[in-house]
Amino acid sequence: MTRDVVDNKSKDSVEVDPQEEYGDETVVVRAGPTGPGGDDEERIPDSLPVLPLREVVVFPGTVMPLRIERKRVQRLLDNALAGNRMVCAVPQRFSDMEHPKLDDLYRVGTACKILKLMRTDDGAETIIVHGICRVGLVSIAQEQPFLVADVQSRTDEITFTPEVEALMHSVRQNARRAIELSPNVPDEAIDVLESVPAPGGLADFLAANLSLELVLKQELLETFDVTDRLNKVNTAIARQVEVLEISQQIQTQVRHQMDESQREYYLREQLKAIQQELGQADNRNADVDRYKVRVAEAKMPEDVRKEADRELKRLGVIPQASPEYSNALDYLEWLCTLPWNTSTTDRLEITPAAKILNADHYGLDKVKKRILEFLAVRKLNPEGQGPILCFTGPPGVGKTSLGRSIARALGRKFIRMSLGGVHDEADIRGHRRTYIGAMPGRIIQEIRKAGSNNPVFMLDEVDKIGKDFRGDPAAALLEVLDPAQNATFTDHYLEVPFDLSNVMFIATANYTGAIPGPLWDRMEVIEISGYTEREKLQIARRYLVPRRLSETGLDKKQLKFDDEALRNIISQYTREAGVRGLERKIGAVCRSRAMALVSGKRRSGRVTARSLQKDLGHPTYESEIAAREASPGVATGLAFTPVGGEILFVEATRMPGNGRLKLTGQIGDVMRESAEAAYSIIRYRGSDWGINQKLLAASDYHIHVPAGAIPKDGPSAGVAMLTSLVSTLTDQPVDPRTGMTGEITLRGTVLPVGGIREKVLAGHRAGLKRILLPQRNIRDLEELPKDVRDDIEYVPIKSIDQLIRQVFPVVGKKIKRTTKAKTKKPKGKVAAKASRRASTSGRKKS
Ligand SMILES: Nc1ncnc2c1ncn2[C@@H]1O[C@H](COP(=O)(O)OP(=O)(O)OP(=O)(O)O)[C@@H](O)[C@H]1O
Ligand SMILES: [Mg+2]
Repeated sequence: MTRDVVDNKSKDSVEVDPQEEYGDETVVVRAGPTGPGGDDEERIPDSLPVLPLREVVVFPGTVMPLRIERKRVQRLLDNALAGNRMVCAVPQRFSDMEHPKLDDLYRVGTACKILKLMRTDDGAETIIVHGICRVGLVSIAQEQPFLVADVQSRTDEITFTPEVEALMHSVRQNARRAIELSPNVPDEAIDVLESVPAPGGLADFLAANLSLELVLKQELLETFDVTDRLNKVNTAIARQVEVLEISQQIQTQVRHQMDESQREYYLREQLKAIQQELGQADNRNADVDRYKVRVAEAKMPEDVRKEADRELKRLGVIPQASPEYSNALDYLEWLCTLPWNTSTTDRLEITPAAKILNADHYGLDKVKKRILEFLAVRKLNPEGQGPILCFTGPPGVGKTSLGRSIARALGRKFIRMSLGGVHDEADIRGHRRTYIGAMPGRIIQEIRKAGSNNPVFMLDEVDKIGKDFRGDPAAALLEVLDPAQNATFTDHYLEVPFDLSNVMFIATANYTGAIPGPLWDRMEVIEISGYTEREKLQIARRYLVPRRLSETGLDKKQLKFDDEALRNIISQYTREAGVRGLERKIGAVCRSRAMALVSGKRRSGRVTARSLQKDLGHPTYESEIAAREASPGVATGLAFTPVGGEILFVEATRMPGNGRLKLTGQIGDVMRESAEAAYSIIRYRGSDWGINQKLLAASDYHIHVPAGAIPKDGPSAGVAMLTSLVSTLTDQPVDPRTGMTGEITLRGTVLPVGGIREKVLAGHRAGLKRILLPQRNIRDLEELPKDVRDDIEYVPIKSIDQLIRQVFPVVGKKIKRTTKAKTKKPKGKVAAKASRRASTSGRKKS
């Protein structure tokens, strides 16, 4: 009995009237006033065959295609088509029911007229129905062969109140908006909307077209009250508008995003085309592949490897044209080229190493011994920590070249980094990668250049390191030179630690006083002092002459230096602690002879003392001492400067006045205080030395330390200042060949000072015959070469009375026995203090 209708969604097999198109949606192409009384007025019979519907509601006034799937509806259709073509379309409550009974159907349906039946080739049928009016199912009139029900038709009754009109207006507005927002609904639908005059018809028309659930649609069908129906439709439609609006917003957003990425894609393609045109093909993939291989081969530690992988990933995504890309490439290049695990094998045999060290440098036994010790320790304990050495000494004594020689002896790479003038911490430790043009610091740069992680690394001239607003490079060096920290030295640019613990660091300095304290503390200091004349002669003969000859392209047979000639160069053409000037002069002689040889001038193949003037001109230096005449008020002091030892002539003079003391010659505070102490001593002890107290009080004094352009400081000129004052006051000259050094206290004690070795060497160079020095410094003389010790008479002094007696024999005789006893006294406290000073004075310029 129930052949039935399914949804209207499958139109494929339906033959449609070309005039009418039934889309996927329930499209209503015609609508009119519903129910009897409208244009399509039709009398509704009291009983109608029931057409059960699945998932669809037919509203009055609408036309709808219905697909017939249940064969048993056929009979119903045949019957209807043969008669008045009227059926009652009623939705069934559950769509899966094949043969619904009355109870399985909703109790309100729509009386419909069948407009058309269409059959396709495969036998499927579709009918087109026109809803006429609502009907209520009252009772069953017939059950077989199809359901026929007694029905009661319901028509809309309405009075046009302003409320209804306002409602209709609102509904129309919302509907219009919904149509505008629905891309699938043609704009003509708006015309249809306007053409429906009846409020009930309008509600039905819209209800049919709204996408609502069956239950809701059925509810609208069952709502007989028109105002109520309009209200419900209005709510539903407003809701739909809201949904449509939101979905449109989403659409717009999506489109915008699409547009952006499309635009970028488009520009990128263009860029690629331009690059190709310019011959710069896109080689990002090539870069990534290349670095993948290199990262894998670079033997990096695990955490560095991770960093490299991260950077590789980044390289794959950053635009190739951006500066970031080349930065990433640079960074990877650094990571791949650093010798993370590449080291040279140490040559640990003592004898060959000693041979190399001796072949490069004369003397310097202390340093050479230290290096050989290091080798021995390495041999026994290969994992041991290397020393961090610091060579200090005057210029030209071979500190830098020794470092190179050590590297050669050990079979390691050699790096020399000059710290002179380094002001910026970033020079040592690099710039962070956020800076444009950032690079690793010099330490990492040099390590990469060396290509091994255990080179000999010379930090040349640590005493010249600067410090300003850009940070303190010395602080960065602390980390480098601290064995506990340098295994994880982290450069700002690399941001990953590099192990520096295998590097052998050697620092050099001229003047230890200028090395920042904490740095000094981390290093093992080895002093290299200036050379004596004899040592210089040996160095010249064995090292400098052969080296210079070969550099000039001459050989031993073409040019020979006499010892006498070399001695003359040393004493008359140079005045220095090291041998740099000497080497230069030898070079000058070689060049001069090479020139003569090339231009065909005949000169003998020997350099003698007499021929020297032809090559070097007049001697530059003469013995200062020899040229001096003894005159009252001048004393010969000894100073220790960054360029080695030096002799100083301290001058004092006296003029009528009232006891004022004037000091000149760029002297520092400590030296100034020494002068004042000397003056005070004279005031209270002067009478013992035969100084006229009246004269003393009625004079002004001026002490000058010549070579006024050079700043001088330190307490060690105290003795010389006292001597010069006594000399001018007693009118007794001091022998200029007597040099002196020592600090004085107000109590008249002479305290030990530093730099004795350099001072004595300088005195020796200058031709001193006698040197007065604090008694406690006598042991320092042991370090001196024998010739220097033999050439000079050393006089130890403990007190100023001893000093006066030694320098002014005439005055000394006058010193009373009693005062002698008095000055001998200070022993306990002062002496203890003196010894403390002595132990620290090595670092002082004195
Ligand atoms: N003991 C030595 N034997 C052989 N050559 C030496 C010796 N001492 C110095 N020289 C030579 O003197 C020259 C200068 O030495 P170097 O440059 O190493 O001096 P330095 O101590 O580093 O001076 P500075 O403090 O000015 O840097 C070099 O050519 C070096 O080979
Ligand atoms: Mg040097």
